[in-house]
Amino acid sequence: MSFAFSVLFVCLGNICRSPMAEAAFIAEVEKRNLNINVDSAGIGPWHIDNPPDPRTIKEVAKHGIDIRHYLGRQIQPHDFQQFTHIIGMDHKNITALLKMAPSSAKDKICLLMDFVPGQQGTEIADPYYGNQDDFERTWKQVYQGVSHLAVYFEQRL
Ligand code: 4NP
Repeated sequence: MSFAFSVLFVCLGNICRSPMAEAAFIAEVEKRNLNINVDSAGIGPWHIDNPPDPRTIKEVAKHGIDIRHYLGRQIQPHDFQQFTHIIGMDHKNITALLKMAPSSAKDKICLLMDFVPGQQGTEIADPYYGNQDDFERTWKQVYQGVSHLAVYFEQRL
């Protein structure tokens, strides 16, 4: 099956924000019957082959989605060819991605909150050093981002 679009969500570790965005966006894609491939990756190597943070798993499960099988991976050079949209969570992610990307792929890179009217440039803060409530706040912000992202694609498919 070929996809019209493919989205890679990127955060630092690939165990908190980007797996949340992946799970939330897959739910939106399925609900709206969109033909989009979805994945996530981290800038850093620390959590390769690890499941998401237990707090991420717990928050996402509250919304009926089981992500215990997700495994962390680090972004690879071929991702810049393979994906049509590479979506970071904070400005540091964007800086790192722009540094890695070939010039032909730089315009694929943006922040998740850029898709929310009035929220362009807003970061999704890292909840890793926070508590479970921070993960709930992260989910709410991520969900706001991915629902606008789904509308963006709905208008282009
Ligand atoms: P994430 O959070 O980028 O939202 O997955 C982090 C997870 C782990 C680390 C940093 C951020 N870490 O340094 O291990």
